Amino acid sequence: MCGIVGYIGHREAYPIVLKGLQRLEYRGYDSAGIALFDGSDLKMSKTKGKVADLKARLESEISTDGTVGLGHTRWATHGEPNDVNSHPHYSNSGELVIIHNGIIENYDALKKELKKRGYTFKSDTDTEVLVNLIEDVIKKENVKLGKAVQIALNQTVGAYAIAVFNKSKPDEIVVARLGSPLAIGVGEDEFFVASDASPFIEFTNNAIYLEDGEMAVVRRHKDVRVRKIKDDSLVDPYVQELQLNLEQIEKGGYEHFMLKEIHEQPNAISDTYRGRMLADKGIIRMAGVDDNMERIANAKRIIIVACGTSWHAGLVAEYIFEDIARIPVEVEYASEFRYRNPIISENDVVIAISQSGETADTMAAIKLAKEKGAFAFGVCNVVGSSISRETNAGAYTHAGPEIGVASTKAFTTQITVLTLIALKLGKFKGTISQSDFQFHLQEMERIPEKVKEALKSDNLIQEIAYKYRYAPNCLYLGRGYNFPVALEGALKLKEISYIHAEGYPAAEMKHGPIALIDEQMPVVVIATKKGHYEKVVSNIQEIKSRKGKIIAVVTKGDEEVRELADYVIEVPETIEALTPLLTTIPLQLLSYHIAVMLGKNVDQPRNLAKSVTVE
Ligand code: AGP
Ligand code: GLU
Repeated sequence: MCGIVGYIGHREAYPIVLKGLQRLEYRGYDSAGIALFDGSDLKMSKTKGKVADLKARLESEISTDGTVGLGHTRWATHGEPNDVNSHPHYSNSGELVIIHNGIIENYDALKKELKKRGYTFKSDTDTEVLVNLIEDVIKKENVKLGKAVQIALNQTVGAYAIAVFNKSKPDEIVVARLGSPLAIGVGEDEFFVASDASPFIEFTNNAIYLEDGEMAVVRRHKDVRVRKIKDDSLVDPYVQELQLNLEQIEKGGYEHFMLKEIHEQPNAISDTYRGRMLADKGIIRMAGVDDNMERIANAKRIIIVACGTSWHAGLVAEYIFEDIARIPVEVEYASEFRYRNPIISENDVVIAISQSGETADTMAAIKLAKEKGAFAFGVCNVVGSSISRETNAGAYTHAGPEIGVASTKAFTTQITVLTLIALKLGKFKGTISQSDFQFHLQEMERIPEKVKEALKSDNLIQEIAYKYRYAPNCLYLGRGYNFPVALEGALKLKEISYIHAEGYPAAEMKHGPIALIDEQMPVVVIATKKGHYEKVVSNIQEIKSRKGKIIAVVTKGDEEVRELADYVIEVPETIEALTPLLTTIPLQLLSYHIAVMLGKNVDQPRNLAKSVTVE
């Protein structure tokens, strides 16, 4: 999920690859490594930590000559971040070397098969399985590297951007992409490969962006052959002339990381359920839950501990767990939980939700819960993070690195993971029927497309942002599953635009906040068809009678609220439990555009840190 760089040509590869990795650092990573080929030998150095650590280590470990090089920044998904799991990875014979971004979902089955055939593995990664699978194909089928990569990839399920090199065929690098980006820089008698164009922009403006499902054999002194991985058909590569500068490239053409991450949500959500959920077969596999099913399903109580946005995801989970799995849930601010004297028993399961996996309060809450005998389960984004190590079991969100301080894709992927867990528990306990279970999975599979549709309201949201950008206050209302979304919408606005905002359960408004409403007050109301719709419409009437300005998030096609509201933003229809995954999108965009219009530092708002490692 992070960065790859490769070079083949007439120059020294090392400085190009090293600088390329530095350029890719913005993507967030936990380890780095480089392999070089000097005409006779393959050499490699890799380490947990930063590219600067790699530089120091590599230069004392191996000689840096060679005109072929592959470099990688890893953001661990399979196996904790350590030196051995860092990329590149050799095949068993030492002939092949690979770098990979993404996830090979069926790596476990492939690994078992390869072990039977005598292969051994040094790391815990899915990537090492892939490079040995390629080696196995070369041996069995007696084919060249390109063909072997193609055959091997057709046996995999998952997402990847890979570059593979074979030292007995030193004039070519084979690359392929599905789900993770990959660009080829076309120079004069030299080629570059990278996750984006930033590593090679100073050498060439000509780039081929591989499409999903394509692979290429990049041949020194020759050309680039692009093919479809599935059916082997040749593709005429489109060589694009780049007009972008470095900064634009890093942000994928978006103005800010936050906006990029908002738009990454369709992929981030599908990366999170992919390989776990087989909608057509009605199966969810999650090792962390499967291995501890009795313990979790028989919990007398689930206590969720988290902070900020992750706490909001916990609130959504409370609805899902109680609804689907019928287990009582309490959601606690980690910072409060740890400093009172909470009643925790051995029959409790404590779930910690944390994007970074490093939040000090959440970590302390988990330690406390464990001390009192509870079973601790982690939902983290960063693999190998402190919380993921401290918990007894867990399930990662596969959102990829989140750089913007304001959390966006972490929130929706946390909800995705928690929904899968609730569904699994419900199925195990018999609190959800098989047909309902299956229906939820099918609907989950449609969410990425629906998020894409929700993102299309961007122009309208910019118009709304422009209208209300100087509002000193803003109220967010929602009910049921969408109450936590109202809280999250308000937090986003506060964090990046510094406008005071409050989230409330819509019906609670009449017990106090209604006093705030006048013609100056924008009120964002989530009023989707599923979930107390009529009641929310009544709440909208109450706001309108007091001249508040209504911005409503509604289900596509809704006419009733349109008559009452100043603005309506439509999201596609889905089942109630999944609405937060859609209703959150316009609220993220609204806060983003207001902050941009006010000239605020969106990605690094004042006073805030991405990972809060102090109490
Ligand atoms: C969200 O936009 C925040 N910046 C913040 O509230 C964050 O969610 C909180 O600090 C928890 O972080 P974590 O998920 O890494 O534990
Ligand atoms: N799945 C691979 C690993 O965990 C690649 C991770 C990445 O994209 O950096 O090593």
